[in-house]
Amino acid sequence: MPVEELMWVEKYRPHKLEDVMNQTEVKERLRPLLQKPQEMPHLLFAGPPGSGKTTLALIVAETILGELKGDYTLSLNASDERGIDTVRERIKVFASYSDRREGVPFRLVMLDEADEMTSSAQTALRRIMEESSRFTRFILICNYSSSIIEPIQSRCAIFRFQRVDAQQVTAYLKKIAKTENIKAPETVLDAIYEATGGDLRQAINLLQAASMGGELTLETVNAVTGSTVKEKAGEIVKLALDGDFNGARLKLVELTRVYGIPETDFLRFANEAIVSSGAKRTADAIKILAEYDYRLLLGASPEIQLTAMLAELAALKEK
Ligand SMILES: Nc1ncnc2c1ncn2[C@@H]1O[C@H](COP(=O)(O)OP(=O)(O)O)[C@@H](O)[C@H]1O
Ligand SMILES: [Mg+2]
Repeated sequence: MPVEELMWVEKYRPHKLEDVMNQTEVKERLRPLLQKPQEMPHLLFAGPPGSGKTTLALIVAETILGELKGDYTLSLNASDERGIDTVRERIKVFASYSDRREGVPFRLVMLDEADEMTSSAQTALRRIMEESSRFTRFILICNYSSSIIEPIQSRCAIFRFQRVDAQQVTAYLKKIAKTENIKAPETVLDAIYEATGGDLRQAINLLQAASMGGELTLETVNAVTGSTVKEKAGEIVKLALDGDFNGARLKLVELTRVYGIPETDFLRFANEAIVSSGAKRTADAIKILAEYDYRLLLGASPEIQLTAMLAELAALKEK
């Protein structure tokens, strides 16, 4: 199953302006820009997490570039662990292409967590923005616009996002639960809102995690927020050691993405789980774990590495 279907935050991400909740002012100002893309300035989206910034950036890209979105959009995260130099280099290369197809107004760079950039990195970014402005537009996304240097701010149209309010959050969760055929009592939805304070991403993730067993109750919500990560890690290790690579892989995605468990935490719990499992190949399994622990330390991509690790653990079974 592709991750987009596994994760409710992706499955239920709105694709149309009208489907985005709250953010009335943002939507009103965006609408005319989408109708005349040639005149669109650079955009700066600022606001709290889980309020729809990335969603709206994707809608802008989809509306303006349509099917060519994939070819003409570069999406980057400024806090990318590979470092700001890589990010800058990739933007520079991408933004410098001037070839465009008929009907494509510009190439689009979406830079998430732009406020994680140091001011010198931002100064370099500003230069790239200037040099490429004939063919390229930027959408910068951040939590606080005040962490963006003034010369960039003044080149962008700034859009301020608000936290999604309680009533809208619970209404949204209710709709999802209905589609997923899960009974969702008001009190439980209120509790999810309380626990996530207007961060719709967190709220949806919590809804999904708490509904995993098919039933959504205050108890299942509490179980997730109080979390039994250790058990989950144990289950994943067990599946892998039993040779069920695919099952283990899906559960890992669920654990890291839906529950938001850091990969290093997963390794720690996996270690305990292996030791206490009494599996025949405990020593081999621990060696594999140690190897991947080291790779993560060196900054390799966690999801790919952990998936590869599960594959190796599963392969032990055949030996
Ligand atoms: N205003 C909103 N309207 C509808 N769904 C939203 C809204 N904000 C967030 N979401 C939901 O939460 C998820 C995360 O939203 P996202 O746009 O990535 O937030 P962020 O502001 O952190 O970039 C989306 O996939 C979507 O399902
Ligand atoms: Mg985002």
